[in-house]
Amino acid sequence: MSVDVAAIRRQFPILNRPINGKPLHYLDNGASAQVPQAVLDAVHAYETTSRANVLRGVHALAEAATEAYENARAEVAQFLGVPAEEVMFTGGCTAAINLVAHSYGSLLRPGDEIVLSELEHHSNIVPWYQLAQRAGLRLRPLPVTDEGRIDVAGLPQVVTERTRLISLAHVSNVTGAVLDVAAVVAAARAVGARVMLDGAQRAPHGPLDLPGLGIDFYAFAGHKAYGPNGIGVLWARKELLEAMPPFMGGGSMIGNVTFEAITWAPPPRRFEAGTPPIGPAIGLGAACRWMMEQDWTALGGHEMALTQRLMDGLAETSSARLIGPAGLQGRLPVISFVLDDIHPHDVAQILDSRGVAVRAGHHCAQPLMERFDISGTTRACIAPYNDTGDIDALIDGVRETVRRFA
Ligand code: ALA
Repeated sequence: MSVDVAAIRRQFPILNRPINGKPLHYLDNGASAQVPQAVLDAVHAYETTSRANVLRGVHALAEAATEAYENARAEVAQFLGVPAEEVMFTGGCTAAINLVAHSYGSLLRPGDEIVLSELEHHSNIVPWYQLAQRAGLRLRPLPVTDEGRIDVAGLPQVVTERTRLISLAHVSNVTGAVLDVAAVVAAARAVGARVMLDGAQRAPHGPLDLPGLGIDFYAFAGHKAYGPNGIGVLWARKELLEAMPPFMGGGSMIGNVTFEAITWAPPPRRFEAGTPPIGPAIGLGAACRWMMEQDWTALGGHEMALTQRLMDGLAETSSARLIGPAGLQGRLPVISFVLDDIHPHDVAQILDSRGVAVRAGHHCAQPLMERFDISGTTRACIAPYNDTGDIDALIDGVRETVRRFA
């Protein structure tokens, strides 16, 4: 089934903006995707017709704001395939992982172990490192294969009776490799451990079935999934949430407060202290609705056809080396590469001068850079609104870069 990319592009106003007098070729979607008009409209409607605080007031605006906020939670829950009461709004994906590290982490004991991997984003390493320092835990990293996948064959070496949690990227933000979730869940269940996935790079590619994955925690960011900045989501199973203490304290997350004793509200409010990011949450609800309205069979085919076109173009450039799976199986359209003797920042600057936006550097994944013995990569991440013109502009820019440095 073909995709009407022009019709999709028209929904994203920023794509009309020229860069240095040239058309914008936006391929930095893994850092932040762009927002469709439907999301802008939802945030605008809240700010102009129902702006007020939520879950507190009894006046008409407060009730309208609360309804919009809870509707957004329901949209996110539908997108994830879970009950709304298991969905918490956070400040971002990083905040969601930190919430688990503090709250679930406070239930762990010295000597307990957490399994990560060499390809994790720093946001799925640093909070666990900090917890390990605080609580005397041990971090056990899974190795990464030469094609940039978490090596699930290494699970028996790192998963032990002391493993309490395995926390891994659903999709690598550098290599695009998709995790073999079933293998991880089986290894975790064998020792009674929990599984958390960092879904930051997966959520922008269509609705999920979290119960079907058999996991316990899932985190993703709004701004990478066509939503606003400053909003993220944590999903966890209800029975886990009920056993977890709050992370942040403040208004709205309590049952009763005296100076002698405080009781907690049930989840999800227990984990949403203070005034939440209301407009961004409403925008993220609209982004999830937008994603649920798309035909992801067609869009997935479109994204992977562009991925193949980019990989073919790089393969014709003798100095280019892909960091990630060379085929389309088990990967998403996050494509990293290095050029012999050319720093990724130089590549990105030349691309920028041609209107092509990519990310270059270590991508907040320094252990993975060490694994491949590189300082960084140039990375393109493809979204539904990208077209062959974007890919060809990138390939032309790469060829020009190689010529200039020859
Ligand atoms: N985590 C984002 C990225 O990979 C910022 O670019």
